Amino acid sequence: MPEKMGRIIVTGACGQIGTELVPELRRRYGQENVLATDIRGPTEPLAGSGPFALVDVTDRAGLARLIERHKIDTVYHLAAILSARGEREPERAWEVNVEGLRKILELAREHGLRLFWPSSIAIFGPATPKENVPQETVLCPTTIYGITKVAGELLCDYYFHRFGFDVRGLRYPGIISSEAPPGGGTTDYAVEIFHAAVREGRYTCFLREDTVLPMMFMPDAIRAAIELMEAPLARLKHHANFNVAAMSFSPAELAAEIRRHIPEFVCDFEPDARQAIADSWPRTIDDTAAREEWGWRPRYDLKSMVAAMLTRLSERYARSSAAQEHQQPRGS
Ligand code: NAD
Ligand code: SER
Repeated sequence: MPEKMGRIIVTGACGQIGTELVPELRRRYGQENVLATDIRGPTEPLAGSGPFALVDVTDRAGLARLIERHKIDTVYHLAAILSARGEREPERAWEVNVEGLRKILELAREHGLRLFWPSSIAIFGPATPKENVPQETVLCPTTIYGITKVAGELLCDYYFHRFGFDVRGLRYPGIISSEAPPGGGTTDYAVEIFHAAVREGRYTCFLREDTVLPMMFMPDAIRAAIELMEAPLARLKHHANFNVAAMSFSPAELAAEIRRHIPEFVCDFEPDARQAIADSWPRTIDDTAAREEWGWRPRYDLKSMVAAMLTRLSERYARSSAAQEHQQPRGS
């Protein structure tokens, strides 16, 4: 039997993933049944499309009040500080990513909640194999973000085995999306490049042109979260740490694919501090466990993702310039 979802709270809902996950959860489970929360206020498409509350994930009492008031039974816990920002603010990264998660786990235990929590390819480090990283492997990350994600995976598995409640998670690769901007990660270039290509026809990439990293298009990332949460618990041998893969490419390969649609597009390369982070991560991932235990299959590859991104962004920028023209006073 697939698991059933009732009333859901999403933390970090205004970020890159929440901006697209919340509308899909509302479409599937009912607008009023999905409470979006963040420490900042909502913008479109979250503003006005369902319940929203401001809350800091390190504020356990504030979270408890929302969980009780809204009769929550499931948490999608997305609030986090990502890899590049984490290197600038390591203490904050630990506070939000580990202390925030621990508070959510305690609340989940007290209130009998189900929990989805995303880990990351950042759990891997220089000693991890670069190609086809197996599910069980060396986890010695060199970033504070990666360290918080390893701690998070261990905490989630501990709570599952020690207290027997249903916590699930997967190791997302870099996520590419057209709606909200990415929140300070090392894979952000793979989103920025599309906006720059459509608007200016030129982009300066902060990673070296041959840096291959695992990536996933947002529709696959959203489907992965929902399919994992709906999978029958009895089928799962793993819980909070599924490898998931979709595609791997370098900045040069991505630029070449964009150039098939925009031939005049120029991409330059000026690697910065994020290069060292990217160099510590693997190139390709083996996601056999996710495929076998809950039927994971990606739908987008590099070619189809690039075509979809360019269509979405071209339409968006055309709409906003039409709106701006419409607002110009007559005679100006
Ligand atoms: P994001 O940075 O875009 O969004 C995170 C959100 O959390 C932001 O809206 C921010 O305001 C909020 N937040 C930060 N501190 C908070 C706090 N103390 N209390 C409440 N909210 C707070 O991140 P995202 O890309 O949407 O990532 C969501 C989750 O997925 C994170 O756990 C991240 O580690 C994981 N992940 C993302 C990627 C990716 O490429 N986007 C890849 C792997 C894993
Ligand atoms: N995309 C994320 C980052 O670069 C990986 O978790 O931080």
